[in-house]
Amino acid sequence: MEVAFNEPDFLHPTAIYLPIWKSWDDAGRPCKEYLMNALVLFDSEYGNTEQLARTMAEALSPTIPVRLERAGEVNKLETQGVNLIIVGGPTQRHKLSARLKSVLEAPPRGSLKGVKAVAFDTRYRMAAWLSGSAAKRIARHLRKLGAKLIVPAESFFVQRDLPPEGQKRRHELERLEPGELERAARWAFGLASVAVEN
Ligand SMILES: Cc1cc2nc3c(=O)[nH]c(=O)nc-3n(C[C@H](O)[C@H](O)[C@H](O)COP(=O)(O)O)c2cc1C
Repeated sequence: MEVAFNEPDFLHPTAIYLPIWKSWDDAGRPCKEYLMNALVLFDSEYGNTEQLARTMAEALSPTIPVRLERAGEVNKLETQGVNLIIVGGPTQRHKLSARLKSVLEAPPRGSLKGVKAVAFDTRYRMAAWLSGSAAKRIARHLRKLGAKLIVPAESFFVQRDLPPEGQKRRHELERLEPGELERAARWAFGLASVAVEN
């Protein structure tokens, strides 16, 4: 799914803008090409990682064109023309989800050469060696595919549900901690300029 990309207002003083006039058509008119195209690939069981992925895509979209894809709906990484890939998923049993793993394992080694990459996950707020971290695994896959990781793997935190006495924990009740969506938007907004500099 494409995320709405509105031509930026070049007079706006605060935003960073990356589109450039890069080439000319047959009639000698400048053709606008964008310095960067981003793909946000995510998996999500209960909607928290999805919310983050959508927020990130929206935060980037005034700056660069963004495509948003869900693992399972796509089984193949389509990265033609993509120079920034952001991949995120829930931490499950200390690892990444099977759906996301199979998308990241499908392409041949080295097929993301020249692509800048970023990994994130959702997990419990505790030391990563205790909770596990899907983002660290995602980063490993991306590196194997030849992508260049431009920032450290990032985690966003879900609150663990506290089940009533005597009942089992229910993952479907877990929700992002307050402020995590806003943090994700700020984080994503900064990525385009980091990607240009790296
Ligand atoms: C089967 C399963 C296993 C999980 N294992 C872990 C884990 O090992 N470490 C952790 O921090 N969170 C674990 N969680 C919690 C998930 O990380 C959390 O539910 C998820 O980040 C929420 O994202 P989602 O709504 O996009 O699925 C697990 C959740 C499920 C469903």
